[in-house]
Amino acid sequence: MAKLKVGIIGSGFIAEHHCYSYSLLPNIEIVGMSSLIEDQAKKLMKKFGILGEPLKDYKELLKLNCDVVSVCLPNFLHKDITIDVLNSGKHALVEKPLARNVAEGAEMLDTEKSANRKIFYCENNMYAPTFSKVKEVIDDGSLGKIYMGRGKEQHSGPHSSWFYKKEKAGGGALLDLGIHDIACLVWYLGCDVKEVFCQIKTIIPDRNDFGKCEVEDNAVGVLYFENDAQIVIEESWTAPGGYDMRFELFGTNGQIKVAPTFSNLISVYSEKGYGYAVEKASTTAGWTFPVPAEAWSFGYPQEIKHFVDCILNNKKPLTDGKYGQKILNIVETMYKSAESRKIEEVTNK
Ligand SMILES: NC(=O)c1ccc[n+]([C@@H]2O[C@H](COP(=O)([O-])OP(=O)(O)OC[C@H]3O[C@@H](n4cnc5c(N)ncnc54)[C@H](O)[C@@H]3O)[C@@H](O)[C@H]2O)c1
Repeated sequence: MAKLKVGIIGSGFIAEHHCYSYSLLPNIEIVGMSSLIEDQAKKLMKKFGILGEPLKDYKELLKLNCDVVSVCLPNFLHKDITIDVLNSGKHALVEKPLARNVAEGAEMLDTEKSANRKIFYCENNMYAPTFSKVKEVIDDGSLGKIYMGRGKEQHSGPHSSWFYKKEKAGGGALLDLGIHDIACLVWYLGCDVKEVFCQIKTIIPDRNDFGKCEVEDNAVGVLYFENDAQIVIEESWTAPGGYDMRFELFGTNGQIKVAPTFSNLISVYSEKGYGYAVEKASTTAGWTFPVPAEAWSFGYPQEIKHFVDCILNNKKPLTDGKYGQKILNIVETMYKSAESRKIEEVTNK
């Protein structure tokens, strides 16, 4: 069996998901990890049996013999480091959002072409079993013509300070969470978004240890699709109680609702609490709804397995760099609408 050699840049929240997902595959060797946080990287390397020492300078990692690099970095580093990865002759798995803005994304796509390497766009939700089932049901024509719906993602706020800084993140809840919803909705409806409306707000500007929240922590928007469907999205970083994501779609012949979190698959009431329920839940006391096999439920291992298969067998991925750019363009137009307070047309689809 052909083996793929992998490098990882970053050792934070999402890097752990990448390491775990690679560890489930038989044809992978992780050759090294680069991170600015040595202790964090050492812990991860030990946990997943990655040999060697963490590399402070990612350029040292790019000198290693490997086929593909996972870019698990804050948004402001996606462009430059992905470009360096591609120019070093390696494919890049780039986490959402593709970049801070469309101009950065365009540079990445230009380099993808000139370097003749591929960007694989990490949108885990499009590989999640619940959302894949929704797509299958819709594609069978079960709902008729979808004309309305809603998508929503919320939690109490991200786990690292860079997310809250405009320069480093590029945007707040809309870019961080809305990007997931929009990627799924465009996939579900199978057509482009022609216009958008959006309003953004910062409800909790003081984030204690993380300092000031310089970006929006709440966003509400409407996506107007080319098939005339209008879908509302709601994104929040100020909702305690753990990670929640759900869709409701209405068609002329039916409707569908999906929520992989806060589902009634398991409901627990505990006065004392217990170990862990779901990402970003601050307590397990009271009523909780633990998510079984969380990484699997959220689609991370399925996503990485798909990308590895695409690389080894030269297949087109479900989510490539162009898809990441398409979704980023919708988000950017929503920011334009928030500024103008008008419906804005999505151009350059
Ligand atoms: N798919 C998802 O659901 C999902 C979830 C969380 C995060 N993400 C995305 O993943 C990316 C990373 O987020 P995170 O939550 O892992 O962040 P994090 O803050 O947990 O980790 C960031 C990591 O980047 C490393 N880093 C920063 N600068 C570096 C440099 N110059 N060289 C090497 N390493 C460097 C840090 O050492 C740290 O390990 C973001 O783009 C985020 O949007 C995606």
